[in-house]
Amino acid sequence: MKKRIAIIASGSGSNAQKIMEHFKYHDQAEVALILSNNSDAYVLQRADNFEVPTHVFDRHTFYQTDEITDLLTRLQIDLVVLAGFLWLVPKNLLDKYPNKIINIHPALLPAYGGKGMYGDRVHQAVLDAGEQESGITIHFVNEHFDEGEIIYQARFRIEPGDSLEVIRFKGQQLEHQHYPKVIEGLLKKM
Ligand code: GRF
Repeated sequence: MKKRIAIIASGSGSNAQKIMEHFKYHDQAEVALILSNNSDAYVLQRADNFEVPTHVFDRHTFYQTDEITDLLTRLQIDLVVLAGFLWLVPKNLLDKYPNKIINIHPALLPAYGGKGMYGDRVHQAVLDAGEQESGITIHFVNEHFDEGEIIYQARFRIEPGDSLEVIRFKGQQLEHQHYPKVIEGLLKKM
């Protein structure tokens, strides 16, 4: 049986798109479900385009019930991939999927991570600090923001004069290039 991936995303879902593309004709794994806490998220449209089932949940369901954990178990999900999802993952879900929930962060953790550090705030902080490089981090998820064990990092140079938009673009390119492959590598070991 193919390994089954669930992606949780709140927004545009460009990473989810790349992951669905990567596994569309894959013989060992598939994207089996896309979940979102935002019923307007564009990622849900992307899922429809790939005929991947979707599920929308709210805060109460996520934190106060076992509904999501039960759904993932029922669908025999092997790996949970966060791709633009900002909520902490509750204990019941972490316990059910130990070292099987991963996240991508648009900087080189442990720097520029933690609560409130997401999206352009991260790139702006990197820019303000005058860094000469930034990158991406793929890591296991634990009960804290951006603190789980690092699985993979990739770097890019920041050239003098690079704007926030340029830094965002360079990071996004690396995310799209590496996230699907890192997921594939993890699934092979499972
Ligand atoms: C990415 O930059 C990722 O690092 C962060 O959220 C963003 C999601 O972007 N966790 P997208 O929705 O996949 O385009």
